[in-house]
Amino acid sequence: MLQIIRRVLMILSAMALCASSHASAQPAPAANTCLACHSTLTDAKLTTPAKLFSGPDVHRERGFACVDCHGGDPAAGDKARAHDAARGFTGAPAGQVQIATCARCHSDATLMRRFAPKQRVDQAAEYATSVHGKQLAAGHTNVATCASCHGPHGIRLVSDAKSPVFPTNVAATCATCHADQRHMAEYSLPDGKPLPTNQFADYQKSVHYSALTKGNDLSAPTCNDCHGNHGAAPPGVGAVANVCGTCHAIFAAKFQTSVHAQIFDKGCVECHGNHAVLKPSDDMLGSTGHAVCATCHSGADDKGAVAADGMRRGLEELKLGIGKSGELISRVGNAGIDVSNQELALTEARSRLTLARTEMHAANLPAVNAILAEGTTILTGVDRAGQDGVAELRFRRRGLAISLGAILLLVVALGLKVRQLDRRSHP
Ligand code: HEC
Ligand code: HEC
Ligand code: HEC
Ligand code: HEC
Ligand code: HEC
Ligand code: HEC
Ligand code: HEC
Ligand code: HEC
Ligand code: HEC
Repeated sequence: MLQIIRRVLMILSAMALCASSHASAQPAPAANTCLACHSTLTDAKLTTPAKLFSGPDVHRERGFACVDCHGGDPAAGDKARAHDAARGFTGAPAGQVQIATCARCHSDATLMRRFAPKQRVDQAAEYATSVHGKQLAAGHTNVATCASCHGPHGIRLVSDAKSPVFPTNVAATCATCHADQRHMAEYSLPDGKPLPTNQFADYQKSVHYSALTKGNDLSAPTCNDCHGNHGAAPPGVGAVANVCGTCHAIFAAKFQTSVHAQIFDKGCVECHGNHAVLKPSDDMLGSTGHAVCATCHSGADDKGAVAADGMRRGLEELKLGIGKSGELISRVGNAGIDVSNQELALTEARSRLTLARTEMHAANLPAVNAILAEGTTILTGVDRAGQDGVAELRFRRRGLAISLGAILLLVVALGLKVRQLDRRSHP
């Protein structure tokens, strides 16, 4: 009897063992004494990593742990063994050690393909070609490293709106260093002047910044669209016009045909600036006052000045013409005459203004004038229709006056007749 009970017990315990080994085939959370101990420490510097790593963190979500970046023994309960350098503990990786730490996975195509088949694996290689990477190699530890832009813990997908490199956040991330005069103090431009720290402030004044932040236009550029994500370097001489041209292709094509393209070192930037690209207006055009052309062209014998003034005059004339024709058409329209065709034609004329402003980038006065002349021709047609409308109105008014007169006469005649009848019935 006892034997049978023992047998049954043995079978049962074997079954339990089997079941438990099945359970452990599911990846049970590996020991992580790093997290356990660091969560209980009091110094915020030591607990924050544990807290952030336990929140949204792309690496924890992919099954990685503290040891994957820091090394050490994640099964050891005491600090000395956990932090053992013989177990690969590196402390807080900084400088080149940090680049190597992140690159161990991010430059490993085989590993990365398992998680994100389309992910690039050239971040560290690109970084090495950037000013940041080169200066780090030269011993400057205050340049940006992987964790300066992405954070070390609580790293999110770059498509996450809360990521520090999401389009609407990236400028502030770069600004933590680039807007800090003390941080950037030891650096200078090739001409010896101190490296400016106004990029973020200037960028905040730009049409690009307002399109991105106020217009929610994620296609508007921020720092990394012009400077690259990892190969962060200022677009080199000659490439500057190309940077703008990646988005403004038609302007770039027109500019390429201009005399300026051969002369300007900085392409578009010569006239628009780089960080504070302001909303353009016709006031930028001309050879006097605040016009950008005036910085290089002035005087009656300067062909550039003559062209600049000619283009400006042509634009102003067409604008004035559109204004006048518009008034005429709305007057006629308000009086009840159908003017939808003329309104369409006015839109056409306005589009000639836009086309002329684009054509202007080729710095060719006759080409601009040809477009403006099309606008003027359209206006001539609009005005003719407008005058016809006015004539029609005049005709209608005259007709109305005549019929009103006739009605009045009739009323008076009726009135007289009624009085006559009245007198007859009350003699
Ligand atoms: C029993 C507690 C304990 C355990 C376990 C532990 N740590 Fe620490 N850790 C500390 C304390 C305390 C410090 C503060 C520095 C010191 O006292 O050495 C620290 C500091 C660190 C630092 C900062 C070192 C520096 O150079 O600034 C890192 C990184 C770190 N721990 C990572 C880990 C990792 C990774 C593990 C697991 C493999 C781990 N810790 C396990 C308590 C612990
Ligand atoms: C994706 C890699 C990565 C993972 C995973 C990671 N760390 Fe770190 N950790 C870093 C880097 C890089 C630094 C250095 C950051 C810096 O200097 O800006 C760092 C710094 C630290 C520091 C020092 C903080 C300070 O301000 O001095 C501690 C402590 C730390 N980590 C603990 C942990 C713990 C605990 C875990 C797991 C819960 C963990 N880390 C997971 C990359 C990682
Ligand atoms: C100067 C800031 C900066 C530095 C330094 C930096 N990154 Fe990035 N990283 C970015 C930006 C900006 C993006 C792109 C975000 C986007 O696509 O909108 C990005 C994107 C990424 C991506 C997503 C895939 C991709 O390539 O677009 C990974 C992975 C990445 N970085 C890893 C790294 C690693 C590893 C390092 C260090 C070798 C590093 N980064 C250094 C700013 C930086
Ligand atoms: C143990 C391997 C490993 C290490 C070490 C590592 N990563 Fe990652 N990282 C990954 C994997 C895997 C992903 C997930 C890719 C995915 O699913 O898109 C990832 C994702 C990322 C992303 C989000 C990319 C995206 O698609 O938006 C960034 C940013 C990133 N890591 C930065 C870093 C930085 C910075 C370091 C160093 C401090 C680092 N990683 C260290 C493996 C690693
Ligand atoms: C951790 C601080 C830090 C962060 C964050 C940082 N940078 Fe830098 N950056 C530097 C330092 C320091 C230099 C070196 C200056 C030098 O050598 O001229 C530099 C150099 C540069 C240069 C070259 C300037 C030159 O000399 O012509 C560019 C361009 C640049 N950074 C762009 C960026 C962009 C874009 C971002 C954000 C995506 C960024 N940086 C984030 C610190 C930083
Ligand atoms: C629309 C494109 C564009 C954007 C957006 C942009 N830059 Fe630039 N940046 C340039 C160009 C072009 C140059 C080179 C100008 C030159 O040669 O005079 C430059 C130059 C620089 C330089 C070298 C020093 C200087 O001021 O000439 C730094 C540093 C820099 N940018 C950082 C940034 C940072 C940080 C941001 C985001 C706040 C940013 N840039 C946004 C185009 C851009
Ligand atoms: C990543 C794409 C991108 C790059 C690079 C870029 N822009 Fe823009 N730009 C835009 C978008 C988007 C707008 C806002 C929408 C619009 O008005 O066309 C804009 C607006 C403008 C405007 C105002 C247009 C208007 O009618 O109000 C000017 C001027 C301009 N950009 C010049 C530049 C210059 C100069 C550069 C290079 C230094 C440049 N852009 C680089 C995308 C870009
Ligand atoms: C020679 C000076 C000069 C250069 C170089 C230049 N622009 Fe312009 N740009 C202007 C002026 C002036 C205006 C304003 C025209 C107006 O409103 O009458 C303007 C207007 C614009 C506009 C707005 C057009 C509109 O319809 O309101 C955009 C966009 C633009 N430029 C982009 C560029 C790009 C991209 C480049 C380089 C490929 C460039 N510009 C090069 C002087 C220049
Ligand atoms: C940074 C200096 C600079 C600015 C700004 C500039 N130009 Fe020029 N431009 C030149 C130079 C240099 C030449 C070639 C020498 C010359 O003919 O004066 C030139 C040539 C021209 C020419 C050809 C003249 C000829 O000989 O047939 C025209 C047209 C012209 N510019 C128009 C403009 C207009 C319009 C603007 C403003 C939107 C402008 N430029 C802004 C420097 C500039």
